[in-house]
Amino acid sequence: MSGEKRLKLAVFISGSGTNLQSLLDRSADGRLLGDVEVVISDRRDAYGLERARKHGVPAYVVEYGRYVREAGSRTAAYEKAEKEVLEILGNYSIDYVVLAGFMRLLTPYFLEHFRIENGVFRVINIHPALLPAFPGQHGYEDTFNYGCRWGGVTVHFVDEGEDTGPVIAQAVYPIFPEDTVETVRKRGLSLEYEVYAQVINWLARDMVQILPSNRGRPRVVITDPQYRDVLKKWVNFAFSSA
Ligand code: GRF
Repeated sequence: MSGEKRLKLAVFISGSGTNLQSLLDRSADGRLLGDVEVVISDRRDAYGLERARKHGVPAYVVEYGRYVREAGSRTAAYEKAEKEVLEILGNYSIDYVVLAGFMRLLTPYFLEHFRIENGVFRVINIHPALLPAFPGQHGYEDTFNYGCRWGGVTVHFVDEGEDTGPVIAQAVYPIFPEDTVETVRKRGLSLEYEVYAQVINWLARDMVQILPSNRGRPRVVITDPQYRDVLKKWVNFAFSSA
C-alpha cells in the first residue's frame, strides 16, 4: 500500500486494438499511471499495430500461426512463439503484461517469468463478460443471445486456463429492450476502457492485494478507500454511455 509509480506495460493484441488505443491515450494525457513500452501481436494484420506505431511505441509481430503449422503439438508451438516474445520483452523492463484482445492462451512456461506467487502472475486480461459466465471469444454475443438483462466486463489475473484466473474487477452495464448485439458491444467496450485503466492505476498504487487461496483460488482484494465510489461511477457511466 506504499507509494505510486508508473508501470511499464507490454500490451498483447490480435485485432483492432481499441483497448490499446484507450491505454495509449490515457497514458499520454495523464489518466493512466503507466506507459505502453511495447506492443506484441500474433497477427500481422492486427490494426492495433498501426495504433502503436502512430504513438511511437515499438510493435512486433510474433507469428504464432507459423509455429503452429510447423510444430507437432500446440504446446510446443506456443512455447516456441513465447520464447520469441520473451526475447523481445527482455529489451524492456516490463512490470505487467496486459492482454487486450489477444486470442492466444499463455503457457506455464511463459507465465513463470512473471510470477508474483503461486498461481498469480503479472499478466492481466480484460474479458467482455461477467466471468465465470461466458468465457471464450464471444462474450458480447453470448451475453446478448442468452437474453441477459445486464452484461459485464471482467479484468482478471491470467493463468494457463481460458479466462479462469483470479478476478480483480468487474463492472456491469444494462441491456435495454431495443438493444442489438452491436449496441451492447459498444456500451460494453466503453466500460472496458474505464475498468482496465482503473485496474492498472490500482496496481500502480499497490492497491491490489492477493490473499491466501480460498478453496484453491487466490482472493483478490482492492484496498482503495474510494472503492465504492469507483463502482458507483462505473454504474453511472454504463447508464450514460449510448
Ligand atoms: C475486447 O472486447 C476484450 O474484452 C476482448 O477482446 C476485445 C478486444 O477489442 N478480450 P479491441 O481489440 O481492444 O478493440
